Amino acid sequence: MPGFPIDVHMSEHGLLDSIADDVRRGLSAPQKFLLPKFLYDEEGSLLFEQITELPEYYPTRTELSILTDIADELMGRVAPREIVELGSGSSTKTRMLLDAGYNAKTLAKYLPFDVSQTIVESACVELQQRYPDMELHGVIGDFERHLGLVPPPVGKRLVLFIGSTIGNLEPKERLELLGEIRKMLAPGDCLLLGMDQVKDIGVLEAAYNDAAGVTAAFDLNVLSAINNALHADFNVAEFRHRAHYNRDLDRIEMHLYANSAQTVHIADLDMTVEIAKAESIWTESSHKFTQDTATAMLQEAGLTLDAWYTDSLRYFGLALATAQGLALDPHMSLRRGD
Ligand code: SAH
Ligand code: AVI
Repeated sequence: MPGFPIDVHMSEHGLLDSIADDVRRGLSAPQKFLLPKFLYDEEGSLLFEQITELPEYYPTRTELSILTDIADELMGRVAPREIVELGSGSSTKTRMLLDAGYNAKTLAKYLPFDVSQTIVESACVELQQRYPDMELHGVIGDFERHLGLVPPPVGKRLVLFIGSTIGNLEPKERLELLGEIRKMLAPGDCLLLGMDQVKDIGVLEAAYNDAAGVTAAFDLNVLSAINNALHADFNVAEFRHRAHYNRDLDRIEMHLYANSAQTVHIADLDMTVEIAKAESIWTESSHKFTQDTATAMLQEAGLTLDAWYTDSLRYFGLALATAQGLALDPHMSLRRGD
């Protein structure tokens, strides 16, 4: 038995089971699409970890360098009693902040929240060794549906949403999510939001079309995930991955192109999908931001930018934000569920 609780609101298979409607909708659309959250089954989470170590994939190491620089100052300034991290994955970069809070004896609890149970479990096992006196509480769920199920705070809260996972949501969805995150913040609580920045297109496209083909394997794996979960028969070998940058919308668009015409059966949906040769399935968008677009997005969601941290090349940005208007009456809590 692990020494930490893990609340499971959705299993990795559960995610795919519960999104039957999303798969049906996506594969019936004129531009076929699958949602990026389907990329993270057990194999997908492992492949993402490999992506973070690729020479072309600069976001992880750049964000890590910023977090390393700011950890002590940030954790001193915010002094959270607990950190809730959305899309926590392996929690590797988070250790910079956990180290600072743990050593300062201000941080008592860490709650990783992710759709992938295997990765949260293995992260917690390692974190338990590293921080024997810190309370760990994993939450397995979809942050677009289950934020209200995060356990009540034990004190001042820092919500972490790093890695630029916010960029994988469409503008409407990300605004809704930021609005829900805002409801998790009481006066004095903060959000730290990591966002990849707009930059040279060559750098961006290389990061999503790496020479070793790891991103291709990550992308193609979504078809295997759907085959497994919904008893489908995608011929994965007949698709190829390609990502391109859309300058008008400041986002990478990741697609799987059919090498030949395909007829795919999805048994659990009682659905047949015809895919023409060279037709694509859009599997992910990865939006890129500037400080201005990030500030406007936070503002629209009822959040105020308190600090902006970046690297010397301005490749990545971290926004520290608070909920607008909450300081007016500290007795009036806007927490979810109150
Ligand atoms: N934060 C880590 C991992 C980023 S990868 C880092 O910066 O390296 C994105 C993570 O978000 C994955 O672990 C994935 O499982 C998780 N994720 C994606 N969509 C999610 C959703 N809708 N709800 C919860 N977790 C999600
Ligand atoms: C998790 N997310 C921010 C990654 C990104 O860069 O959009 C996922 C990814 N897709 C391809 N490579 C990495």
